[in-house]
Amino acid sequence: MALLKSCKLFPAVSSFSPCMTLLPSRASSWWSHVEMGPPDPILGVTEAFKRDTNPKKMNLGVGAYRDDSGKPFVLSSVRKAEAAMAAKKLDKEYLPIAGLAEFNKASAALALGETSEVLKSGRNITVQSISGTGSLRVGANFLQRFYKYSQDVYLPKPSWGNHTPIFRDAGLALKAYRYYDPSTCGFDFAGALDDISKIPEQSIILFHACAHNPTGVDPRPEQWKEIAAVVKKRNLFPFFDMAYQGFASGDIDRDAWAVRYFIEQGINIVLAQSYAKNMGLYGERVGAFSVVCNDADEAKRVESQLKILIRPMYSNPPLTGARIAASLMTNPELRAEWLQEVKGMANRIISMREQLVSNLKKEGSIHNWQHITDQIGMFCFTGLKPDQVERLTKEFSIYLTKDGRISVAGVCSSNVAYLAHAIHQVTK
Ligand SMILES: Cc1ncc(COP(=O)(O)O)c(C=O)c1O
Repeated sequence: MALLKSCKLFPAVSSFSPCMTLLPSRASSWWSHVEMGPPDPILGVTEAFKRDTNPKKMNLGVGAYRDDSGKPFVLSSVRKAEAAMAAKKLDKEYLPIAGLAEFNKASAALALGETSEVLKSGRNITVQSISGTGSLRVGANFLQRFYKYSQDVYLPKPSWGNHTPIFRDAGLALKAYRYYDPSTCGFDFAGALDDISKIPEQSIILFHACAHNPTGVDPRPEQWKEIAAVVKKRNLFPFFDMAYQGFASGDIDRDAWAVRYFIEQGINIVLAQSYAKNMGLYGERVGAFSVVCNDADEAKRVESQLKILIRPMYSNPPLTGARIAASLMTNPELRAEWLQEVKGMANRIISMREQLVSNLKKEGSIHNWQHITDQIGMFCFTGLKPDQVERLTKEFSIYLTKDGRISVAGVCSSNVAYLAHAIHQVTK
């Protein structure tokens, strides 16, 4: 110890000091066996975009909303909630393990509906977690520990890229069911229904509640009804991921339709919610995980185990974002303004889809681009092939993931014509 101290004080003498022998040499490093991992496919796109010096460059890889001048957007309702909080000079004490109580209550009501029977009978438990990802992970770990009927999770094919590692790292086994039909760039309803009807009973099945990522393809209500009937018949266990409530149609109730319908059918679900997109609170990491139980007593027992699970994971969730989200949901004026702003974001995306299609027509494209306006939410699965994507990037500095997914939220009035021109050039 004394030797180490002297080395720190006199680094110049350390080259001949005996304390050298205490430091691991490069060859005997603890981590020499660690191999370089691949970069994240989406964040890798952003890195390449940053290096590009073309003034016309576009980043359509990352799923974050931009305003019509291409800038990150902070909601005015959020700014007002922050100002009101700052004026109150609130403390920064720890939250309880399950998070901010009023946030949890409001989150459950937002997802299930104010008049939900589940809320009235107190048979849900909702805990605040770390945005959508953290909520999914808490849910995955909870199922791994307590869902004794199966450890298989069926994901739609394709699904959000992070679903696989989230469930796999929690120790569950991953399977898939058909979802997207590349020939129509739409929902493969027959394929999905056929696959779901063959899933072993009591397996876990993941659904995107709305605005499916990456395809932008959602089942219609009558299709959801048939899916729910099969889920019920096969006694499957649904895990709903709702990362875009309000962001798909502009209407929070419409986007929660499937979740509420399943519950009305007597299906007890689990649900992950995120406020990253619909409140623009990306970096605040606000989300919630809910378990719909049989009765209030069961909910209490599940709550106790969720706390035991969360405590050694991250102890308790972050405070500021939950306070903002709770204000937006519970303060009537802020709520009205927030709902208008959600609608505004959704409408801008819908309008960009329309403008992209009309610009493609203007360019003289003879392809059928109807899927661009049929799909919903932040993302559009264009149907572009990997070589076409590569040309978009190399020749036009337009960055997107290899699967042809574009974040429509990154398109704006000033670049939609350029995007249409580039797509036409690589597809004609
Ligand atoms: C389908 C889906 N689920 C969950 C998330 C979670 O996002 P976050 O952790 O930022 O809330 C996302 C974000 O892109 C998503 O697309």
